[in-house]
Amino acid sequence: MTHLDRRSFVLAAGASALAAAAARSQPTAPGPAPAEGDAHRGPCVLASGNGQRAVDKAFAMIRAGSDPVDAVVEGVAIVEDDPADMSVGLGGLPNEEGVVQLDASVMHGPTHKAGAVAALEGVRNAAKVALTVLKRTDHCLIVGAGAKRFALSYGFVEENLLTPEAREVWLRWRANRSTQDDWLNDDEMDFAPERQRQARASIEFTYGTIHCAGTNAADGAAANVSAVTTTSGLSWKIPGRVGDSPIIGAGMYVDNDVGAAGATGRGEAVIVNCGGFAIVELMRSGMTPSQACLAVARRIADRTREKRLLDASGRPNFNVSLYALRKDGAYGGASLHPGGSLAVCTAHGSRVIPCTPLFSA
Ligand code: GLY
Repeated sequence: MTHLDRRSFVLAAGASALAAAAARSQPTAPGPAPAEGDAHRGPCVLASGNGQRAVDKAFAMIRAGSDPVDAVVEGVAIVEDDPADMSVGLGGLPNEEGVVQLDASVMHGPTHKAGAVAALEGVRNAAKVALTVLKRTDHCLIVGAGAKRFALSYGFVEENLLTPEAREVWLRWRANRSTQDDWLNDDEMDFAPERQRQARASIEFTYGTIHCAGTNAADGAAANVSAVTTTSGLSWKIPGRVGDSPIIGAGMYVDNDVGAAGATGRGEAVIVNCGGFAIVELMRSGMTPSQACLAVARRIADRTREKRLLDASGRPNFNVSLYALRKDGAYGGASLHPGGSLAVCTAHGSRVIPCTPLFSA
């Protein structure tokens, strides 16, 4: 199941405070691919590694004159519509009750407006619903049943998003649960007993998501930037759980004076570090996109303190990937651990390249 293979997994192991301190002080050096991105100038669309079709579509639309906000939302719709991709939209993996709940946000640089939906059920294109919130309301975020009614009122079609394939994966998880879930007992809150860590290690938790950002940077000063993040969120989540993707400043953020940023992976870690906002602010202060992503990856690692979230070396036992697009077309990405990738489309075509990992394998 390739779509699961390329996602972030919750890993487990024993803990050691000394090893933790040592591991935290040894990030890997930035690799060559992001530095190449930092040097790029001109129109550009960037996405998480599952978004090559999205960047192709969005880049073509931007070159044809579309507003980048419409382009990136149309781009990710290709992935939302694909039932074979279990990370978003139709075919996304469900919550612990077998219900697919989608989160998405979108932000338009020129107006500094944002729209988002969370815990949306029964409508596959959460990013388009978020864009409708942006364009048709004075609000930033609509959730749950209200989000669904809002979408239906604008003509979005209601359907069952749980495909037979996703149902099979969910049923396999449900048949093997017990301690393999997101509920914590008193003795599991901080000390991470071996029993819980071993249990979580034996099953896949996924945070599949697509982020996409675009700039029409023909002229750096006049460039407009927009971005979107859309997801079915953490698989097997507690119903109603909302991740970072619809949180403006966490899983997605745009400032038209600077650029855009987004994240995939463990949303809780991105929310408590205001990931997207932090990356944009670091770029504003002079860091390149890849430097800013790596700095926020470091910040997330340094602030992961619960033992149940650390591996034997004291590193986070989850992955987060971070993406940044500066308004002039420079781009970069970083992840906590190897495995993260980004898709990029420029005038030279599209490709998927690795994010720079903070920690070596
Ligand atoms: N980053 C996606 C989520 O945590 O829901």
